[in-house]
Amino acid sequence: MGGLVLGIDVSTTATKAVLVDGTGAVRGIGVAEYGFDVPRPLWSEQDPGLWWDGAIAAIRSVFAATGVSGADVAAVGLTGQMHGAVLLDRAGEVLRPAILWNDQRTAAECDAIRAAVGPERLIEITGNDALTGFTAPKLVWIRDHEPDVWRRVAHVLLPKDYVRLRLTGDYALDKADGAGTLLFDLVARDWSPEVLAALGIDPAWMPPTFEGPEVTGRITADAAAATGLRAGTPVVAGGGDQSANAVGVGAVVPGTVALSLGTSGVVFATTDRPLYEPHGIVHAFCHALPGRWHMMSVMLSAAGSLRWFRDALAPGEPFGDLVASAAEAPAGSDGLWFLPYLSGERSPHPDPLARGAFIGLTVTHDRRHMTRAVLEGVAFGLRDGLDLMTAAGMPVPHQIRASGGGTASALWRQILADVLDAEIATVNTSEGAAYGAALLAAVGAGWYPDVDAACSALVVATPSAEPGPDAAAYAEAHALYRDLYPALAPLFPRMQAAPGTSRE
Ligand code: XUL
Repeated sequence: MGGLVLGIDVSTTATKAVLVDGTGAVRGIGVAEYGFDVPRPLWSEQDPGLWWDGAIAAIRSVFAATGVSGADVAAVGLTGQMHGAVLLDRAGEVLRPAILWNDQRTAAECDAIRAAVGPERLIEITGNDALTGFTAPKLVWIRDHEPDVWRRVAHVLLPKDYVRLRLTGDYALDKADGAGTLLFDLVARDWSPEVLAALGIDPAWMPPTFEGPEVTGRITADAAAATGLRAGTPVVAGGGDQSANAVGVGAVVPGTVALSLGTSGVVFATTDRPLYEPHGIVHAFCHALPGRWHMMSVMLSAAGSLRWFRDALAPGEPFGDLVASAAEAPAGSDGLWFLPYLSGERSPHPDPLARGAFIGLTVTHDRRHMTRAVLEGVAFGLRDGLDLMTAAGMPVPHQIRASGGGTASALWRQILADVLDAEIATVNTSEGAAYGAALLAAVGAGWYPDVDAACSALVVATPSAEPGPDAAAYAEAHALYRDLYPALAPLFPRMQAAPGTSRE
């Protein structure tokens, strides 16, 4: 197993290239940052050229920093931001800026999709309800608002697959990202002719789809000249950032759950059959390895809630000090609850108008209680997602592999273990999705027979918190938390409409 594999993560804010050696060690990282555009409130767009320029810069930078040459790279794996709509003409030229996963313009198009496919049938085929984040509503929006662009569409890709096109000349997509388009048949693991027809999307526009470790093409001479990679190097399908991250932390078997605690919070659970939640409000997608699927809940403000709280109420205070003071408040924060819906919510309440709140304040509460309530409220929201997944048939987790900035806090990890009622473990790498893409490349390169073997050999999980004596108190506090959203939900539209209100 000589040589190296390269994982490339095409994210919303940067493209990252991570070189991994045969022992699983990260040998170097190259990063090229960029921004995204907000042409109108709630819109979010990016020029695909940024991703290709970013990939060239990141790959060249990791080669320069490590002295590694392209000839040493056995295979490349791709991952990146999911759900974006990249539209190309017959010649492969970009027709308009890509509309990204965090664009919220398509509420009306989601209704139109439910009506066109039938709301139950949509969930039955795709495993999901229509959400503004997904790709299909973006395509419907372009169909209805930009007919000149629509007429010229010949290819639809997702963001990382635009980089694949530039690297290999091939139109291709992994099945995990395919499932995140809302145009996929979850059971068949391929495009749904029924959904495509209902939405007027030409099946010829959609690329062939591949399992994560399968080779989709090889580096072209032009791409070799641009990046320093060797012409002919195989590129594997990889996976959307969430499934690749799950591979990177070894969450590839039922019962091992991945939890990511960044700005957003994600609970990701592998299943060995295509399970879905009956209302489609937690996501059900294909995993990045053959014969596996996953369910996923995405909370929009997780560590983002703590950041907001710090910036609003303790500006400049180091997170470590802030969180240490929260340990002085008791579990349950003396009857104080925090709702983390600061940017609206996605799972388990797909509600762009949802609002954050502290509830239960009395004169006895101080900043320590409020900080602790934030940590607990985020954990309760994650538990809501987990509960919907176990109700849908997902095995109760025996271990949750946590990653992301929020997991640096021992107190937060303990609260998560208590509230989620499972062991929390951390893993030996922090490169998440890019590392997972590198592991998929290692399988594609033939280093391992399958993804399970690669994860068992290279990912080491260290338990760091077990459910403790506070778990029972948290179960009670969570029961009240669950009743807060339904009680407040009817007020959110009124708040939105209230005089002097602005959400921008
Ligand atoms: C997953 C999702 C995000 C984006 C951003 O459903 O929307 O993880 O992929 O990177």
